[in-house]
Amino acid sequence: MARRKKIALIGAGNIGGELAALAARHELGDVWLFDIPDKLGVAQGKALDLEQNGAVLGYDAKITGTSSWDDLAGADVVIVTAGVPRKPGMSRDDLLTINLKIIRGVAENIAKNCPNAFVIVISNPLDAMVYEMKRVTGFPRSRVLGMAGVLDAARLQLFLAREAGVSIKDVRAMVLGGHGDTMVPVTSYCTIYGIPVRQVIATDKLAAIVDRTRNGGGEIVKLMGTSAFYAPASAGIAMAQAYLRDEKRLLPAAAFLDGEYGYKDLYMGVPVIIGGEGLEKVVTIDLDASEKAMLDKSAAAVRELIEASKKL
Ligand code: NAI
Ligand code: 2OP
Repeated sequence: MARRKKIALIGAGNIGGELAALAARHELGDVWLFDIPDKLGVAQGKALDLEQNGAVLGYDAKITGTSSWDDLAGADVVIVTAGVPRKPGMSRDDLLTINLKIIRGVAENIAKNCPNAFVIVISNPLDAMVYEMKRVTGFPRSRVLGMAGVLDAARLQLFLAREAGVSIKDVRAMVLGGHGDTMVPVTSYCTIYGIPVRQVIATDKLAAIVDRTRNGGGEIVKLMGTSAFYAPASAGIAMAQAYLRDEKRLLPAAAFLDGEYGYKDLYMGVPVIIGGEGLEKVVTIDLDASEKAMLDKSAAAVRELIEASKKL
């Protein structure tokens, strides 16, 4: 008998709740919303609210709040947002010590209870957390990816669309590197329906847009005292759906690099193809000298973070 896919969401906070809402609305499968015992009521309450939402919107999904790893046994997809989000004045890297401990525990439980799952990490600092997830689970790189590039590119798309006065639907953007201040918005690969943005938007305006993209997370933290959750959740679901429906989507995501772009033993944002096998390919694109120099700088920042986490 065919069975619905099982989607485990680790962390039932702001992003976790929105992930559950989207997974249900897209009918990707049945959803388990997991949180620590102190937050079990929140997980169960959100789950019940979202099941009732199915009557209004017309979707079929069983949604369950839990704090028991046994319930997650055999999950097909696990999306991890467990941890603490950024508060005003806090950098992503400040989160390292707190979230590293949480991710290690979560990774051990994923390895034990969901050994065949495709895992998407969202918790920050993203590149170090996803590196740790792969290290602790021992999963192949095809089954452990980090979400950041789709979100960062979405921010860049919005700013480009507003500046050019065109629909956001016609803008495609590429952001590579670590999910931090050193990320590399690659304007040479940004287009408006195939037209390079450099032909449409003046250099100084583009530079300001690049800068705003790099600080896109912090801009929202400053406004609302916690980090963004709608676009991050949509980005996570886009990746999960690409896997579950074998869509072969080309998306920027944090992938384990094994020599690509000249980097080894590192997670960083690169274009990848996601399909039924998980990470099916790291796509290598040509970069000019200044873009490559920026990527090198970003890789160095990520490596520093990974080395720091190895000592913790
Ligand atoms: P939140 O605080 O609303 O939710 C986090 C949840 O994780 C809380 O409910 C907490 O109880 C839970 N949690 C803590 N320890 C846990 C454990 N051991 N097992 C299971 N759950 C546990 O935070 P929000 O806004 O959902 O953000 C989650 C993470 O995502 C943060 O680290 C944030 O910085 C990061 N983030 C990453 C982005 C990216 O592009 N990669 C974008 C936006 C946020
Ligand atoms: C974001 O980019 C803070 O990483 C979080 O919204």
